[in-house]
Amino acid sequence: MPQGLFITLEGLDGSGKTTQIKRLASWMRKRGADPVVTRQPGGTETGDRIRELLLSSRTSDLAPLTEMALMFADRAQAIAEVIEPALAAGKTVLCDRFTDSTEAYQGGGRQLGSDLVLAMHQLICGGLQPDLTLLLLPSLERSLDRARRRNERTAANEGNDEGRFEAEQEAFFCRVWEKYREIAARDTERVVTIEGDLSIDEVQEQIVEAITMRLTQAHKK
Ligand code: TYD
Repeated sequence: MPQGLFITLEGLDGSGKTTQIKRLASWMRKRGADPVVTRQPGGTETGDRIRELLLSSRTSDLAPLTEMALMFADRAQAIAEVIEPALAAGKTVLCDRFTDSTEAYQGGGRQLGSDLVLAMHQLICGGLQPDLTLLLLPSLERSLDRARRRNERTAANEGNDEGRFEAEQEAFFCRVWEKYREIAARDTERVVTIEGDLSIDEVQEQIVEAITMRLTQAHKK
């Protein structure tokens, strides 16, 4: 059975993942590929409802464990409905966030720890791991600066109702940032970290380089 590549993008809020995933998809399409692009939370009808609950600033007092369980509920649905069927059909899947986000945000940010998140990952996702993870990680200062600016915008704009995480404090984003670094250091084969305060074009160049290398490796297998 053919098996496509499973590629995830990770990073803090405002790290430019969404722009880069769009650019990457169009780069791949120009080369004849037909990637399936999805995001977490969301990406399925059920997942979009879970996303609304998770991100809405009207959701208050969500216990960290509830938050983590909902992230995995969303993921289970996405795997069943989108990711596994696409991979089985030999398509490449580009996914905006996956379990690394849960480890960074709930494990690190909410201080649930990595072990719990990784145990849940085993139970819910089984052996499914990305073939390649692109981690966009500008310096901590720049990440915090962006988080601060998003935080101010969210506070000023009641119409934007996806601001529950963006309204978090700096200490939360520091923990998320540090956990991402820890994941990258632990899983050097899978995770390619794109660091430094780069332009959109420079980040795209590095992404294309990482993908090209991984595709070459996949073809050699
Ligand atoms: P996303 O829509 O990717 O936001 P952005 O484009 O701002 O990066 O993700 C929504 C939020 O959900 C983001 O703040 C991170 C959070 N999140 C978690 O806390 N845990 C998870 O497992 C996932 C997938 C997302």
